[in-house]
Amino acid sequence: MAESSIDPRRPSAPLASGHIAPPIASSYAELAQELAALFDGESDLVANLANATASIRAFLPRASWVGFYVMRAGQLVLGPFQGKVACVRIALGKGVCGTSAAERRTLVVPDVEAFPGHIACDAGSRSEIVVPIFRGGRPDGDVVAVLDLDSYDLAAFDERDADGLAPIAALLGALAW
Ligand code: SME
Repeated sequence: MAESSIDPRRPSAPLASGHIAPPIASSYAELAQELAALFDGESDLVANLANATASIRAFLPRASWVGFYVMRAGQLVLGPFQGKVACVRIALGKGVCGTSAAERRTLVVPDVEAFPGHIACDAGSRSEIVVPIFRGGRPDGDVVAVLDLDSYDLAAFDERDADGLAPIAALLGALAW
């Protein structure tokens, strides 16, 4: 196929490597399978995290921002993401991301204005979910990053999202951190 026919907006568009991007997942289980397939045979952390943000955002169009904050010397630093320019550094215990990392648990925030200390990178954000990523995908592993999803809608995420993202966080934790 000619290079000029590639339309990166189409999920089935051929990738530069010759692979075909998978169709958008229709369930969290499919999303997990898709991510596992993307990670299979690729050890580059940044590439895998970048593709993960694209897959997750395509699956959750209500998410205005999908990205990672990666643990660096005791603070969270912005990693691969999809969405608007965001805050770069978040201290442990600060904001939703820093609280999730410090408390080692997923936080579902239906209304960010009701979360004390929420960090507003985008004034339009109304709700958020943050999932910690543990090294090796093990619940007792160090927190290596958090996965942060924001939405312009109130209560865009709930426990079903937390449950669906848990195995995905385990897959992410097994990457080469
Ligand atoms: N709202 C987050 C900050 C990151 S941005 O949403 C991308 C927080 O309170 O930690």
